[in-house]
Amino acid sequence: MTSRKITKAVFPVAGKGTRFLPATKSIPKEIMTLVDRPLIQYAIDEARAAGITEFIFVTSRGKSALEDYFDIAPELEMTLREAGKTELLDVLHKTNMDSGAISYVRQNQALGLGHAVWCARRLIGDEPFAVLLPDDVIAAEKPCLQQMVEAYAETGGNMVATMEVQPEKAGSYGVLDVAEDNGDIVRAKGMVEKPKFGEAPSNLAVIGRYILSPNVLTNLNEMKKGAGGEIQLTDAIAQELDGGSSIYGYRFRGQRYDCGSKAGFLQATVAFGLARPDLQDEFAEYLHDVIELQKVAK
Ligand code: G1P
Repeated sequence: MTSRKITKAVFPVAGKGTRFLPATKSIPKEIMTLVDRPLIQYAIDEARAAGITEFIFVTSRGKSALEDYFDIAPELEMTLREAGKTELLDVLHKTNMDSGAISYVRQNQALGLGHAVWCARRLIGDEPFAVLLPDDVIAAEKPCLQQMVEAYAETGGNMVATMEVQPEKAGSYGVLDVAEDNGDIVRAKGMVEKPKFGEAPSNLAVIGRYILSPNVLTNLNEMKKGAGGEIQLTDAIAQELDGGSSIYGYRFRGQRYDCGSKAGFLQATVAFGLARPDLQDEFAEYLHDVIELQKVAK
């Protein structure tokens, strides 16, 4: 077993977010908020909880609001301090990243998720690393990446978060070809990105949390195009099997929301709103009333 401590995480945030136009005309998708925290904050907090200390963002043109979000805001802090708003100051401080903890590389052409991760190769170097896709928001008692880091300490190799999806949805995901199913941990003998209908090797989909060997970056050097003509991370991970490395799917405990889709974003908004002690009573009552009214209208 060859697992090492995971301290670096890559956040691919170069996507244009066209599904959320016109909002994403001027704000990055990752700054859109669930209740009052931007999507990216959920991913950062999850990574921190898992022991990540170096945060690598793969960005693109038009994403500078993300860099500002993690910077300190001296004028705002001074205003809050003068007004004695210490609680808000605390909230703000949690968004600050230490100098040097966060770095940005640009993906200057949209060539796929694999290519985006490859853009971070020099910052990752020769150590295993995590990848978090901020569109996948996972509500869990123990944060998903932390669950995976603990499981990875036992398995080593490469690990992806996985969950069952309906067969008709499999074509939207990377899908595992299962060699051995041990419950929480599934050993894969293959992975297929966005399989055609009826060709998915299982109903276990890859969800956007990964712990990967640096060799995946070497595989990405080949720049092979896969599904949709893009350089796919899934393919570069699957290639690990050729060299005798292992791939594990980890069935995480938690609820995943696909915040890359409008329906998923709305569902997450409801779930996170209901989970907030300061909002839940009023919000639950409102939702209840809306549903009752709908029933009457039918
Ligand atoms: C990406 C990955 C896919 C994975 C999915 C999870 O796809 O390529 O393997 O299943 O994220 O959200 P995308 O949603 O970017 O098309």
